[in-house]
Amino acid sequence: MKYYQLSNTQYHVSAIGMGCMRIANKSVEEVEELIDTALDCGINFFDHADIYGGGKSEEVFGEVLAKRPELREKMIIQSKCGIVPGKRYDFSKDYIINAVNGTLDRLHTDHLDLLLLHRPDALCDYEEVADAFNTLNKEGKVCQFGVSNHTAGQVRLLQMYANQSIVANQLQFSIVHSGMVDSGLHMNMTEDFAVDKDGGVLDFCRFNEIMIQAWSPLQASWSEGTFIDNPHYPQLNEELAKLSEKYHVTKAAIAVAWILRHPAHMQVISGTTSPIHLREMCEATNIQLTRQEWYNLYLASGKTLP
Ligand SMILES: NC(=O)c1ccc[n+]([C@@H]2O[C@H](COP(=O)([O-])OP(=O)(O)OC[C@H]3O[C@@H](n4cnc5c(N)ncnc54)[C@H](OP(=O)(O)O)[C@@H]3O)[C@@H](O)[C@H]2O)c1
Repeated sequence: MKYYQLSNTQYHVSAIGMGCMRIANKSVEEVEELIDTALDCGINFFDHADIYGGGKSEEVFGEVLAKRPELREKMIIQSKCGIVPGKRYDFSKDYIINAVNGTLDRLHTDHLDLLLLHRPDALCDYEEVADAFNTLNKEGKVCQFGVSNHTAGQVRLLQMYANQSIVANQLQFSIVHSGMVDSGLHMNMTEDFAVDKDGGVLDFCRFNEIMIQAWSPLQASWSEGTFIDNPHYPQLNEELAKLSEKYHVTKAAIAVAWILRHPAHMQVISGTTSPIHLREMCEATNIQLTRQEWYNLYLASGKTLP
């Protein structure tokens, strides 16, 4: 496993983190096995959100911690809040504080290592958010703060008011969902790939040493599911299979290695609930794709280059 220093913090986070969005319907024993596998592979980072499975994901994870509290000190635990299912977004102070209290109860822990604001709230009052961060920080309930799905401008605004550094931005990124690099590569061109939809968030995060956490590393989109073995992506799967044979790892590991090859040192948040898949994916940290292999995968996913 590789580790990255989370800038301005004491945390060394594993390059692959275990995402907990899909564990809600798993038994305590299944989640325990997944956690043990993750720790055995060197994964020390666990990503939650209050809304995953309507709170059930945190609950079942928390049951493992209640049974084996000694595991907590081996973990860097992150959760997210701010999405109100069926209603939309709420970054008000009370909402954030109540959400964190709920998460801490469900996880059976007294603190979160990181708290992210899940998705931008158009009605966000940044002073109020800063107030919530201060309260949570002073009470020892949250150590570090970050965001998810935020543009460069939104992070700058929040940073203007917050007393704590914004240390992470969790963004969707994969070979197929690669908008963050598309616009830079197509700079000065007129095709759709040139359109900057995120305010140059990739360069902004690198300038400001904000860790990018890549979510859904294997998903084409919500509706299509994974691109691995997906008949809609024949060329990409051919290229993945070629490299999987060369490096003796799975196609999924090659897809993860593609993200890790980017010099921004992005952390990959994996969503598998299979201990076997998780172990296979961690092989990605032993691979360094060549430049040509990286570009071949990019082109095989249906993109062009100027
Ligand atoms: N910030 C946000 O807005 C946001 C949004 C979505 C997700 N997330 C975070 O990102 C994490 C990852 O998202 P995700 O679950 O969509 O990511 P993912 O890792 O791209 O997808 C995981 C899914 O792909 C399947 N899969 C198919 N073939 C696989 C293979 N060979 N190896 C591994 N998995 C394979 C998995 O099935 P198996 O379980 O059978 O392996 C699982 O259903 C989530 O858990 C969550 O923590 C954040």
